[in-house]
Amino acid sequence: GAAVEVDISALKPGEKVTVEWRGKPVWIIRRTPEQVAELPKLDSQLADPQSKRNPAEFTPPYAQNEHRSIKPEILVAVGICPHLGCSPSDRFTPGPQPSLPNDWEGGFLCPCHGSTFDMAGRVFKNKPSPDNLPVPPHMYLSDTKLLIG
Ligand code: FES
Repeated sequence: GAAVEVDISALKPGEKVTVEWRGKPVWIIRRTPEQVAELPKLDSQLADPQSKRNPAEFTPPYAQNEHRSIKPEILVAVGICPHLGCSPSDRFTPGPQPSLPNDWEGGFLCPCHGSTFDMAGRVFKNKPSPDNLPVPPHMYLSDTKLLIG
């Protein structure tokens, strides 16, 4: 399929845009500095914090890092739950929320069977999804222009 070019210059901290790539939703999220700072603290709660499982399918080499991305603030991920393919919803607001831990720092919740993911798309332990949200192949054409695929 054709690669998709995305201009992210208007994307503000805490915002997400969704583009379609090969029939799949791809999320581009500009994380806040607070959200980026939180990522290393969550490792012990995650199933695969270093994204070592099945990297060919889920995490290209340039995203095998704490933030799972090329630029620490920009997450690019396929918005499809690796468990059975539902679409997780945004739960960006930290703090107590229904069905989430009290110390929730933001991320994504799959409505089908309750898998939760952090702001890098890393799945929490003991959830139905065995894997993190996939990071699609992508690169920067310029500081504000992404190429997905
Ligand atoms: Fe997401 Fe089952 S499809 S938890």
